[in-house]
Amino acid sequence: MIRNLMTAAKAKGEREVLMPEVPHSLQRSFALDLLEGLSQRPKRVPSVYLYDKRGSELFRQITESEAYYLTQSEQEILTAFKNEISEYVPRKSFNLIELGSGDGQKTVLLIECFLKKQLQFEYITLDISPESVDGLTLSLEEMFSPGLKVRGIVAEYFDGLRWLAGENASRNLTLFLGSNIGNFEPHATRRFLRCLWECLRPRDQVLIGFDLKKDIEVMNRAYNDPEGITREFNLNLLDRINRELGGEFERENFVYYGSYQVATGAVESYLVSTRKQEVFIRELDTVFSFEAWEPIHTECSHKFLESEIACLAEETGFEVRKNFFDERRYFVDSLWRVIKPRRAWERI
Ligand code: AVI
Repeated sequence: MIRNLMTAAKAKGEREVLMPEVPHSLQRSFALDLLEGLSQRPKRVPSVYLYDKRGSELFRQITESEAYYLTQSEQEILTAFKNEISEYVPRKSFNLIELGSGDGQKTVLLIECFLKKQLQFEYITLDISPESVDGLTLSLEEMFSPGLKVRGIVAEYFDGLRWLAGENASRNLTLFLGSNIGNFEPHATRRFLRCLWECLRPRDQVLIGFDLKKDIEVMNRAYNDPEGITREFNLNLLDRINRELGGEFERENFVYYGSYQVATGAVESYLVSTRKQEVFIRELDTVFSFEAWEPIHTECSHKFLESEIACLAEETGFEVRKNFFDERRYFVDSLWRVIKPRRAWERI
């Protein structure tokens, strides 16, 4: 039954327009996405489901492993170039918006630098997870109070950005760090960037972290760390299905396989069934059959050439202002500016 019905318009008892505030059920989305994904060939599960509480903790451990160069490289970039980045931000008051900030460790480097230079800004973290927004706003407040204005918005990225645009006319510097962009399929990357462009004003800026194409062994090692954390991170998906949806996966019957594919330009991650087996998932009331060595795709982690980054920016309405690389050129934080024909913007 739908509760919380809000009547938006009612004309003489005949016509009724309703805006039901249906509670968002994450578990229902998980069940549906799983049903859809495990019915496909090759089977696949969207990578967002890797990040339950245990998965997020395992991902945090991955970022600390020596093999996972991405975090170290981006940290090196922000440490080396924070002063230069601060030269690009507006002199007037601006919003420093972070999409999907995680523990915000890297952003702290920028915040510290901006505060030291007495720049006028408000830090806004935007994420769909209330726990993540709550945790981050609290720790930043503790760290920087009373010097920093911190705001958390719990929403889908683009809903949050649109809401913010209506509420506050300051210029924006939006951060999308950590190569999160690499986890989209190519069509979704373009869609994401176009939506971002649509939510921003002319001359707003974005700083996006891209992992670069490099020695294949280096990339493969990052997703096959000797400690086995990435393996555990992937296998946890099966545990999560068992826990939350009454799945009967036996993790001993699956192996993790992650390797760089030259054709897609991505590290593609899989859980591979090592034997012929049937797995029942109670919430779906469905049995899924696996052949021996049949894979489930769990994640793509795209790597980019500098020229591909320039194309992406141009195709989606941005101009590259500056690329900040680490010493080894493993990673780049690319600073883009929104380009909009004036009339198109005024029509929106
Ligand atoms: C979050 N994301 C950028 C990570 C990546 O590198 O694709 C997730 C990850 N998966 C395995 N290791 C790290």
